[in-house]
This record gives sequence, C-alpha cells and structure tokens, in this order.
Amino acid sequence: MNVDLYERIWMGAAAALIAVFLLAIVIAAGAYAIQPPSHVEIIDPATIHDHPEFGAPGVETRPDGSVVVTVVAEMFFFDPDPIEVPAGRPVTFRLTSPDVIHGFEVVGTNANAMVIPGYVSEFTTTFAEPGEYMVVCHEYCGMLHHNMGATLVVQEATE
Ligand code: CUA
Repeated sequence: MNVDLYERIWMGAAAALIAVFLLAIVIAAGAYAIQPPSHVEIIDPATIHDHPEFGAPGVETRPDGSVVVTVVAEMFFFDPDPIEVPAGRPVTFRLTSPDVIHGFEVVGTNANAMVIPGYVSEFTTTFAEPGEYMVVCHEYCGMLHHNMGATLVVQEATE
C-alpha cells in the first residue's frame, strides 16, 4: 500500500500529539497528584444550614491529628473565611453548596474541586509551605462570581 509522503508526516505528527497528551495526563497524575475525585456522598442542599456538619462549617482537628475542613460555598462567598490549617499535615476538605455549582481552588496548589449542590466534595492534601493562599471559585456561578474568593492561611507546624 502506498501512502503519500505528506500523509505519512501528518499521521506521524497526529500520533505524536496523542502521545504527548497521554504523557501529560500521566505526569499530572503521578508527579503533581492531580486526579479526579473518587468520593461520592449525597446531601440535601435545601437543609445544609441545619445540617449537623455543614450548619457549622469550620476547621476541626481529629484525635489522630488529622485536620478536617468543612466548607460551604454559596453565592458569593466561602464559609469559613479565612480558613486556617497547619502546614505539613494531611488536611481533608469537605465541601458542598446550597445553591449552584461553585469551584474551590487553592491557587498554586493541587487543592481543586468542583462544589456541586446535592453532593459533598472531599479531598485530602498537605500544604508544605506556610503562608497565605488565595482561594477562588472557578465555576461561573452568577453575577458576582468574579468576587467569590477566600483566604487560606497555612500556619507553621507547631510540633
Ligand atoms: Cu461561586 Cu463562581
């Protein structure tokens, strides 16, 4: 079978491009720990403010030293704000929304999730560097989407 030279070049280029994209996914998943969440948990968005956990969002340290941050994302703020967590320890975020889809991204880290009404988004990460981080909503959620943000304060490890 005769394949024209230019066609062979473009077939090769297309195959190389696919290989590059697949490699990018593997590198992101492996080296940067960027993965889709696997946690599925449902919640009634209408009763979030009376919910035992999400009715009083905040930062909690469990007896084993792990930290759980419960966050409600709603038009157009995050509660709590600021969020204060320790550096160098696993921090589990649990997020939900009573209204529309929001995003939760800690700029400059791999902490990033969609916040979907009816579901609890959960992920665990560790912040190595103390400092102040910007949290932004990265899903368009309405008129004041561009104002929706918070501050994450990562405090120097105390032990
Ligand atoms: Cu909330 Cu955009």
